[in-house]
Amino acid sequence: MQDWLKGLPKAELHLHIEGTLEPEQQFELARRNGITLPYESAAALRTAYDFADLASFLALYYQGMNVLQQERDFYELAMAYFERAVADNVLHADISFDPQAHLVRGIDLAVPFEALGQAMADAESQWGISSALIMSFMRDREAEEAMDVLRRAEPWYDRIAAVGLDSAEVGNPPEKFAAVFDAAKERRIPRVAHAGEEGPASYIRGALDTLDVCRIDHGVRCIDDAELVERLRREQIPLTVCPLSNVYLKGVARLEDHSLPAMLEAGLNVNLNSDDPAYFGGGMANNFIACHAAFDWDTTIFKQLAGNGINAAFASDNRRAQMHAELEAY
Ligand code: HPA
Ligand code: ZN
Repeated sequence: MQDWLKGLPKAELHLHIEGTLEPEQQFELARRNGITLPYESAAALRTAYDFADLASFLALYYQGMNVLQQERDFYELAMAYFERAVADNVLHADISFDPQAHLVRGIDLAVPFEALGQAMADAESQWGISSALIMSFMRDREAEEAMDVLRRAEPWYDRIAAVGLDSAEVGNPPEKFAAVFDAAKERRIPRVAHAGEEGPASYIRGALDTLDVCRIDHGVRCIDDAELVERLRREQIPLTVCPLSNVYLKGVARLEDHSLPAMLEAGLNVNLNSDDPAYFGGGMANNFIACHAAFDWDTTIFKQLAGNGINAAFASDNRRAQMHAELEAY
């Protein structure tokens, strides 16, 4: 079954490219860029990956990405991710990045845009994996800064499949970003947002009503609100759930306690993702395998979950049909 899950054709929709930075690559890029890391070795850094919650993860996540300085660094980061994703038979990936986390370190917007664009093109020609780019705003920073980033990203609008919203959720409700998301909508840029990861179910409703998003990242806290669950079911809003992420950030004590089975039972449009695979126990295959161990789902359910991901991906109609055909033939 593990081999079957690894080979199952999949689409990954919730993936922070900066969260794919493995400790070994962090050390390699630190050396290249003359940065001294506060750890003895990659192994020592790996043992520091023990999180109490989202905030304690984000501290290490933002610290880790300091080694990303040149286009070459971002390019190699993304290529390493794509290579691992291809090994998990990920056919398509919607990858997000955090421009503000780089701008505050003096890294121009052009650096991640050009490097990621090149990696996306090269990964597709080398391995056949398609991808789309999500530009995420950090919700724990001022909305005016996000608006400024949206304006400055204009030269790359044709490269952006969507804007997103991530970072520390509690205390930073979606309504804070109403004007930014309105501006994205005016520019015909689709919108997604993290909601209901650590924050309350009301943030999910806010993301739908105020930000007019087409997908919810995480969304697991919807389960606290029966009326919202009914709405998510009726509208079939895609929820990009990240099972291992929720365990590593202590959203649940054990995967067995996760609301995923209840969400499926309720008829929600759920798909599985890895979020930050370098920090949360690995990529897509590991997430699928962990769900099999915890819930003992059969191949029909895993095919349904993979199909849900393909349906909700930022891919062309042609590409989507191709991926569905591969999934059906599996
Ligand atoms: N949640 C919120 N923000 C993030 C995450 C996450 O899991 N990963 C990277 N930024
Ligand atoms: Zn995320």
